[in-house]
Amino acid sequence: CGIVGYIGYNDSKEILLKGLEKLEYRGYDSAGIAVRNEEGIHVFKEKGRIADLRNIVDKKIVAPVGIGHTRWATHGVPSKVNSHPHQSASGRFTLVHNGVIENYDLLKREYLADVPFASETDTEVIVQLVEKFVNEGMEVLEAFRKTLKLLHGSYAIALLDEQDAETIYVAKNKSPLLVGLGKGFNVVASDAMAMLQVTNQFVELMDKEIVIVKTDKITIQTLEGQVINREPYTAELDASDIEKGTYPHYMLKEIDEQPAVMRKIIQMYQNEQGQLAIDSEIINAVKNSDRIYIIAAGTSYHAGLVGKQLIEKMAKIPVEVHISSEFGYNMPLLSEKPLFIFISQSGETADSRAVLVQVKEMGYPSLTITNVPGSTLSREADYTLLLHAGPEIAVASTKAYTAQIAVLAILAEVTAKSRGMEVGFDLTQELGLVANAMDVLCDSKELFEVMAREFFAVTRNAFFIGRGIDFYVGLEGALKLKEISYIQAEGFAGGELKHGTIALIEEGTPVIALATQESVNLSIRGNVKEVVARGANPCIISMKGLNMDEDSFVIPEVHELLTPLISVVPLQLLAYYAALHRGCDVDKPRNLAKSVTVE
Ligand code: G6P
Repeated sequence: CGIVGYIGYNDSKEILLKGLEKLEYRGYDSAGIAVRNEEGIHVFKEKGRIADLRNIVDKKIVAPVGIGHTRWATHGVPSKVNSHPHQSASGRFTLVHNGVIENYDLLKREYLADVPFASETDTEVIVQLVEKFVNEGMEVLEAFRKTLKLLHGSYAIALLDEQDAETIYVAKNKSPLLVGLGKGFNVVASDAMAMLQVTNQFVELMDKEIVIVKTDKITIQTLEGQVINREPYTAELDASDIEKGTYPHYMLKEIDEQPAVMRKIIQMYQNEQGQLAIDSEIINAVKNSDRIYIIAAGTSYHAGLVGKQLIEKMAKIPVEVHISSEFGYNMPLLSEKPLFIFISQSGETADSRAVLVQVKEMGYPSLTITNVPGSTLSREADYTLLLHAGPEIAVASTKAYTAQIAVLAILAEVTAKSRGMEVGFDLTQELGLVANAMDVLCDSKELFEVMAREFFAVTRNAFFIGRGIDFYVGLEGALKLKEISYIQAEGFAGGELKHGTIALIEEGTPVIALATQESVNLSIRGNVKEVVARGANPCIISMKGLNMDEDSFVIPEVHELLTPLISVVPLQLLAYYAALHRGCDVDKPRNLAKSVTVE
């Protein structure tokens, strides 16, 4: 789900299609573009991949203005009709939209009862409203503004008017959107990566802003028409970071990048004396809080669970970890001096952002830990810590998870030290050992390929068990497997198995057990025996020093608190090869989006 737009002196088709390809990683099920030339507006859209869209775009058309869209279905099934761009009844206006219009049904009934609708989408309401108000005599900009004021929900919009060759109308609320500046052209994109091919100069947009984008000029306005001046920034992204190179999939590339990311994080968080350091304002905010609330979704939530252990054990500050979407609607009783930490690879997850908006209103301090500088959560929180993991393109998150844990460990250590506590080990050195251990695991790919065949080639389901910190890693291992191989997989606390889940164990059910913690090594092995007695096919992944003969794989030894950084790598690789063996689209799993910008 993303949008792009181009207006300039060159042909827009290829720039739009390339831009959409760069947005593919965000997840989508259909795509489309609309381009405008002297003959009018030409719309091409298709269910499926950008490659399918390319096949139907008329190569002969040359058009210097255009907009494009990848859709991840929310209202209406994935289909050609429901994919964007959408057009108004007369065909004069053409629009792409990301987000969700919550009151579309009401608006349809109230304003558009007599207008024929082509699709089942909430989006079509927007373009029909613009046309309706223009038909009633309004200028286009006025009609656009009036429409936006009626919308409840989230949107990033680009709109073309067949009667105006010189303008793309753009608006944003809650959904991410940037305008990119060039010489002789300007562009619109959901993220900078989509348009790095033509520019690295971008202008951020705030909620409820409109931009009138022309070839040589952009004008930002509020919904009330007040003009806003905002300087562009340079996107510090290397275009080669977002290429796959010789790798068959981004996911494999990103798994392999993890040792380098660990070393980069150590380097980026070191001060001149070679000690781990974090901005003192952030450390003071952590120290001044009586309880930390970690808010995150998906993989980032799993990293938060590990982060809780690190912060509580090292810095001795109580931590609660919450799923963003639950917290937003069901806020627990808060402590007196809470600090909110938002963990988000993309920095755009709408569920997390909704919580940030709420806690800001309540006046509480906030810190975002993200991989994307300048992302919405980063801009809107009081403080940011960056992951320095480089763009993560595969939908299934890998290097961002380990980077999040490493940054949380550094936050825990620096906080502990500034509270005068001893953590009892040298984190810089231990993270260096983690990087080396990751290298060893990444070099053992063939082994995981064989194991994935043995355990996952034909199974319907799989269980991941662990105790303590291993339980949290098991949750992540299960998520990886289900996301990309569609095997029903669940993570469980070892001790909880016998309270229900064990009923699901059948002959041959794979049970992946993690054994990296000395204090629970024997008890998790006891749980394995319980499932084996019921026919399970066990795969024990243990840490050196705790290993036993029956283990399937032994990971190198690292500090007990940092084992998630290592033990997750085999689980990532097993999921990767399981998906390959089962013929799944590893980087772009069905139904999933990388950046979920709808609540
Ligand atoms: C989506 C992705 C997940 C990701 C989650 C949170 O659901 O498919 O892989 O973990 O969003 O994303 P964030 O960018 O906030 O970490």
